[in-house]
Amino acid sequence: MDGFDMSGKRVLVTGGAGFLGSHLCERLLASGAEVLCVDNYFTGRRSNIAHLLDDPSFEVLRHDVTFPLYVEVDAIFNLACPASPVHYQHDPVQTTKVSVIGAINMLGLAKRLRCPILQASTSEVYGDPHIHPQVEEYWGNVNPIGIRACYDEGKRCAETLFFDYHRQHKLRIKVMRIFNTYGPRMHPDDGRVVSNFVVQALKGEPITVFGDGEQTRSFCYVDDLIEGTIRLMGSPPSLIGPINIGNPDEFTIRELADAVIRLTGSRSRIVHRPLPHDDPRQRRPDISKAWEALGWRPTVRLEEGLKRTIAYFDRELGRGEPRRMAEPIPISAARRKAGSRPSPQA
Ligand SMILES: NC(=O)c1ccc[n+]([C@@H]2O[C@H](COP(=O)([O-])OP(=O)(O)OC[C@H]3O[C@@H](n4cnc5c(N)ncnc54)[C@H](O)[C@@H]3O)[C@@H](O)[C@H]2O)c1
Repeated sequence: MDGFDMSGKRVLVTGGAGFLGSHLCERLLASGAEVLCVDNYFTGRRSNIAHLLDDPSFEVLRHDVTFPLYVEVDAIFNLACPASPVHYQHDPVQTTKVSVIGAINMLGLAKRLRCPILQASTSEVYGDPHIHPQVEEYWGNVNPIGIRACYDEGKRCAETLFFDYHRQHKLRIKVMRIFNTYGPRMHPDDGRVVSNFVVQALKGEPITVFGDGEQTRSFCYVDDLIEGTIRLMGSPPSLIGPINIGNPDEFTIRELADAVIRLTGSRSRIVHRPLPHDDPRQRRPDISKAWEALGWRPTVRLEEGLKRTIAYFDRELGRGEPRRMAEPIPISAARRKAGSRPSPQA
């Protein structure tokens, strides 16, 4: 394999203080890389990376990727973008800017440095899919003017830019389509379905299920996702993607709620709320390509991943081992002020 070897390399992770970014930074450091974490803390938290700050190979830069960045690195992982509906719908224009202008800035940087760049794309590019499970060849069914479009279309445009930079400037790109991923360091207030359910169950609050709960999702544990990310960046330059990375085990939202209640031992009951606009009915990746090209498939079963996630939130909520909650992010304040309703089940 003549792919990219991280050891001893300077690697830029945008969105490095976020949920996935912080795990990626950790993993890259463990692989012997020098990591430059760039984040504007819109949804990321300092506490996610606090344990890395003493590592001499780790550096943090507060920066908004919608502005150009001049640094010297050997590879770029572009993760900066709010990922949960409650966050990306808070300032939809900014979401599109982060996806599109952020991509242009990072691609420009990769072009100047002639370095490989990986894009954290999303299963949302498939929209409400007509093909099930979703294969990479499927072009998707996205409403371009809906409330999710800022994210879905932003990410689609970012993919277009990545492929055009590849065709036009011979850039070494990797486009990874991430399906629902969960695990420790998800923001407790970001409205994603796993964190929502776990936090509600631990607090003994009603568990909010949108619609009848028969819509399906597949849930990938964060360690599996990071392994797929590292393998993709380490793959030969000819492998550019797009490539699905996610867990093909499919569960209904109702099944997830039942599992969370069982594993937390909670007395929470389930309450139903109307299904939000453009909420996909089904989501499940076809990961044949990831398996053939990277030898990758997920290894952590939902029950095991949920147990680790519940243990994390249990600590975060101060019920077990003490741990300081992060400072509130602007969006939390905005939601409290606006009294906004919980987000769709991303
Ligand atoms: N977690 C998932 O299930 C999932 C699924 C599909 C795609 N993704 C993609 O993976 C990436 C990371 O997602 P996550 O779940 O870790 O979300 P996250 O919100 O925890 O992380 C995103 C990070 O990007 C930072 N950021 C946002 N705007 C920025 C800007 N303008 N400049 C610099 N930093 C900025 C945030 O502060 C945060 O640290 C995102 O691009 C997301 O679209 C995630």
